[in-house]
Amino acid sequence: MVPNIDELRQSAVGAIAAADDLPALEQLRILYTGRRSQLRQILGSIGELPAQDRRQVGQDAGKAQKEIDNALSARQLTLEQAQEAGTAIDVTLPGRPPRQGAPHPLSAIADELVDALRHMGFSVADGPEIEDEYHNFDALNTPADHPARDEHDTFYLSGGHLLRTHTSTVQIRVMETTPPPVRVLSVGRCYRKETVDATHHMTFHQIEGLYVDEGVSLADLKGTLTALAREVLGERTKIRFRPHFFPFTEPSVEYDFSCTICKQSGEVDGNRCRVCKGTGWIEIGGAGMIDPTVFQSVGYDAEEFSGFAFGFGIERVAMIRHGIDDIRMFLENDLRFTRQFHGG
Ligand code: FA5
Repeated sequence: MVPNIDELRQSAVGAIAAADDLPALEQLRILYTGRRSQLRQILGSIGELPAQDRRQVGQDAGKAQKEIDNALSARQLTLEQAQEAGTAIDVTLPGRPPRQGAPHPLSAIADELVDALRHMGFSVADGPEIEDEYHNFDALNTPADHPARDEHDTFYLSGGHLLRTHTSTVQIRVMETTPPPVRVLSVGRCYRKETVDATHHMTFHQIEGLYVDEGVSLADLKGTLTALAREVLGERTKIRFRPHFFPFTEPSVEYDFSCTICKQSGEVDGNRCRVCKGTGWIEIGGAGMIDPTVFQSVGYDAEEFSGFAFGFGIERVAMIRHGIDDIRMFLENDLRFTRQFHGG
């Protein structure tokens, strides 16, 4: 039987012209010109036709193939142009600036403190947050029955481990492995099982300094902390020492920075300064001269060397610097809070 090529050609060209999109057009291309298409079958079986029909069918099929190919190309061009027009970019519109990230206020202050101490010759040391009791307490002259352990409400883990309650652990780790002189700082996260309030969190950050050499004195400690305070909080910042007790330093002090928010007047716009609570001073941290017992536990000669150590909360410094009155803000990840420090 002679196939009806004309009918096939007409229905193909009609369908192609009506194709809605490029995937639909591809389906039609396969249907009408693919390996299993009717047209291919006709072309493949010409030899089986009566001799007098072969020439005509061959010509008609070739012509139909050409027309279908032309229809496919034309429709493809039209659909591609339409697609391009739909996604065209208007280059005259003002651009949308990409949102830029910035360091968290705590990271920014920590970087400044680290930089200031590095300029004074301190190098950076690191220690684990999951500690053992020895490095967190015993080696720091705080044996199991020492009342000072109770002041550090500790998260204990199994196997004699705990979450470090302070960065003083790094002092021990450094002195265990490095002969004197040493001048290191360490910065990192600490944990205490404390009731969270405006000035205390169960997770906070400390920065620790340790300097051991021949003839290091309390005056060096005061000079170092004063220089640090001025570098980070401004030239006029003052520092005061108050006698205190730490098992691992003797003598021990707590130190306060003068309030840079109210400039020690105790008032801001007629109201009591909320950062120093009207006292003009802000408690920053603890410090002291390394106790000879600590030197003994790390194998340092207390006759030959002396040294100081200090530690304080980074949140505290960030709160003074930015006038923040609630430590919880740092951990809430409220973008309205953190965005205030972008670029500042
Ligand atoms: C210590 O942790 C001692 N390791 C400091 C030290 C180092 C003394 C070297 C001597 C020599 P203290 O427990 O006082 O000391 O903590 C020091 C500072 O860490 C505090 O002044 C405060 O700024 C910060 N801090 C302590 N607990 C919290 C808390 N729960 N939330 C926020 N900050 C805290």
